[in-house]
Amino acid sequence: MSSAVWRLADWDAGRLAELADTHGTPLYVQDLERVRENYARMADAFPESEVMYAAKANTAEAVLTTLVEAGAGIECASAGEVERALSAGAPPERVQYTAVNPPADDLDYAVRTAREHPELTITAGARDTIDRLAERGFSGRLCLRVNPGVGAGHHEKVSTGANAKFGVPIERAPELLAEADERGFDVVGIHAHAGSGISGEDLAAHRELVSRMGELARETAPDLEFVDIGGGFGVPYREDEEPLDLAAVADATREALGEVDATLVVEPGRYLVADAGVLLTRVNTVKPAGDERVVGVDAGMTHLARPAMYDAHHAIRSLADTGDRGIVEATVTGPICESGDVFGSYALPNPARGDLLAIGNAGAYGYEMASQYNSRPRPATVVLDGEESAVDRRRETIEDVMRLDRGAPWL
Ligand code: LLP
Repeated sequence: MSSAVWRLADWDAGRLAELADTHGTPLYVQDLERVRENYARMADAFPESEVMYAAKANTAEAVLTTLVEAGAGIECASAGEVERALSAGAPPERVQYTAVNPPADDLDYAVRTAREHPELTITAGARDTIDRLAERGFSGRLCLRVNPGVGAGHHEKVSTGANAKFGVPIERAPELLAEADERGFDVVGIHAHAGSGISGEDLAAHRELVSRMGELARETAPDLEFVDIGGGFGVPYREDEEPLDLAAVADATREALGEVDATLVVEPGRYLVADAGVLLTRVNTVKPAGDERVVGVDAGMTHLARPAMYDAHHAIRSLADTGDRGIVEATVTGPICESGDVFGSYALPNPARGDLLAIGNAGAYGYEMASQYNSRPRPATVVLDGEESAVDRRRETIEDVMRLDRGAPWL
């Protein structure tokens, strides 16, 4: 069985340095073998279940293809993700579109796609969404997203299970399920997601969510095909953090779910891709600031928003030949004109201009949350597979950033 955690020290520094020389920095690097290992560990822990990869964590084409080939279904949060999943070869019966307050264009697309591929499942989290689907003539495979009233996660901004934005309150689910059935929808599943970045400490919340879903499945919807308990399986972001005991989570899940005559579905995103990716960045500026050493690198919050957004910690390793430079406390900052554009404070071999650094766990919610703020082109993604490597997404140019500009004709 593969190691449950891959740390920065597990990456081949020489190979990463070559990639940075060839492709420039910042650069996302994603290791597909590690993605496969992570998938295999998840599939082993939940052998009787369906694993649907939550594409929002990383939609690189090679990542989607790798996971589809490994046997994963794809959970999609938007029309764009559904399009990507299908074009990566995901069989439509293994694609689920989880509509969260869906824009009209998304629903138009989803209904059109479901007409072509009736095996596609659409998950609705509000009666309005069901109405809007019906108005568009959809009566296909429908899953109801439930708000179980229990949330969890690494930050309040990623806790969804008790956030009224997501799903219908679990008490109302029986009525809505019956109603959808009467209206002629093919009601196939119920869905809930507690939150993201669940650690061992959140196990009680996880158990509670699963047990409520089990109860709902038993009492009100015996004909369901599946019970989907969402994703959120955490990964260690700190180098000294222990990985999640997946077997314990799986045991707790089975026990809490109880007997249900439906397939259990799990939707991991981060767990499959986070530690399989690093963000390479080079030091451009080093300056003393009081007792501090401020180290300016060429990656910032536009490439990895998580520290600025959730105070998230990402480990950093220097890949430079640092000899006996000694360890210093460095505040690592990006090139964006924002005070929040800071990765954090790190004990690093005394950084110097030109040093290459690797930022860990950038494989999940890195590129996906990247923006062109400050008119900065987004970096390339290189994928590795054993000896092979390829540019999965090329680096944007300033022309790309300006591509959509039209101006006002009278000016
Ligand atoms: N299923 C549903 C319905 C979700 O909403 C999510 C995440 C997942 C699965 C996958 O969660 P994961 O296994 O990746 O934790 N940008 C934040 C995470 C937001 C996730 C939102 N939904 C972060 O960087 O921590």
